[in-house]
Amino acid sequence: MSKTIIVSNRLPIKIKDEGEGYALQPSEGGLATGLASIHAQGENSWIGWPGVSIDDEEQQIFFRSKLKESRLVPIFLSDREIKGFYEGFSNEVLWPIFHYIPPYANYDLTNWEIYTRVNEKFRDVVLEHADPEDTIWIHDYQLLLLPGLLREALPDASIGFFQHIPFPSQELFRLIPWRRELLQGMLGADLLGFHTFDDVRHFISSATRLTATNNNSNRLEVEDRTVFAEPFPMGIDSRRFSALSSDERVLKRVSELKATFKEQKIVLSIDRLDYSKGILQRLEAFELFLQQHPQFHKQVTLYMVVVPSRDTVPQYRELKDQIDRVVGHINGQYGQYDWYPVAYFYHGYPVEEIAALYNAADICLVTPMRDGMNLVSKEYIASRNDENGVLVLSEMAGAAKELIDALIVNPNNIHDISNALFTALNMPPAEMKRRMASMRKIVFKFNVQHWAALFMSRLQEIKNVQSATRA
Ligand code: G6P
Repeated sequence: MSKTIIVSNRLPIKIKDEGEGYALQPSEGGLATGLASIHAQGENSWIGWPGVSIDDEEQQIFFRSKLKESRLVPIFLSDREIKGFYEGFSNEVLWPIFHYIPPYANYDLTNWEIYTRVNEKFRDVVLEHADPEDTIWIHDYQLLLLPGLLREALPDASIGFFQHIPFPSQELFRLIPWRRELLQGMLGADLLGFHTFDDVRHFISSATRLTATNNNSNRLEVEDRTVFAEPFPMGIDSRRFSALSSDERVLKRVSELKATFKEQKIVLSIDRLDYSKGILQRLEAFELFLQQHPQFHKQVTLYMVVVPSRDTVPQYRELKDQIDRVVGHINGQYGQYDWYPVAYFYHGYPVEEIAALYNAADICLVTPMRDGMNLVSKEYIASRNDENGVLVLSEMAGAAKELIDALIVNPNNIHDISNALFTALNMPPAEMKRRMASMRKIVFKFNVQHWAALFMSRLQEIKNVQSATRA
């Protein structure tokens, strides 16, 4: 029986080094939960990095067999590989360029070579597990070379690729010294999925200008193969968030939060620590709001959760220091003995606590400078069974294409954000409910199970046509 092999940089389970030993924990992020429904079927397996460097061979063997019980295949990376492939190339070249911040890119040849070698390492492990009739579904910017590497070894395999972050304009993409190699890698897939139509358009323009590829709409002719590039906006596990919202423990936490903040309105902000998320600009906008609307002092709190991420990369460390400073400045400037305008938390939280925050928040403020999709905005909507709450959303997030009943803002325009906060805080309940109900329909209909099934059936369809043409 044929199976699907999911390949992503991170496995849905991470091995956590706890000093005296190791523990297994679920990985953060939408990708892990998103693909759970596909991974659960038949003999499907998942290949990826377990998030830690383990040199000891016995330990590796132990975890390999432990994870095998859940059909997970770990790829262990050395410290040097983590530094060059994950930190250096993925997060210091691809991440800043794909999020439109070229000055943050550090084009280092050694990191590129390590990125290539780690993609080859992934290829070797996939080849150990793949049978010719299997489907291989590769995920995200850390593995852009993998579709091409696998295509060389398995010319007839069914290979899908999904990009979870934006694909930038050709003008940005072409800055990368190894742009052709990256495109050739991606073009090894049969189907390339992106969150939005704009990402697809950008990819096609890079592929046709920088490689010998012709296109007819979203159909690309690559030598003797046809590759399709299409939008598949990713959803979330909406039912899970909706169910969490009526969980007793969550409800208890919601009451506690409401009792703490009493009459005050809660403006919620939740992100991984990342310069693409616009956290500093959001703080600046909140300060402007406090300046412009003194009547809201002591009436509103910005509840800001920043989840630690990639803190070995210099720009992330600097951002953390800047956030600390700006929060200190705002609280010092506007705070009173019984009120701090910004409640700031630099840690991850269990999903139950996040669900409680979504339900306690009057406003969810999501203002990334650039975001492939942004799942926080969708989680907030799915959590509001009561149809209350207002979403303020950046137009630079993929989600803004679907959640058109949010208050859409330009994240660079702090006046726009400040005005949206004012509008949200004064929104009549009927309008709030109308907007929320309409966004909930979208989030529930186009959930993550729908997204995964749609991608897989499209890939299958393409394969069927290829087989029919070959026969
Ligand atoms: C984004 C990327 C994922 C990545 C996640 C967490 O959502 O699209 O590929 O796994 O961030 O980042 P990390 O560097 O911790 O894996």
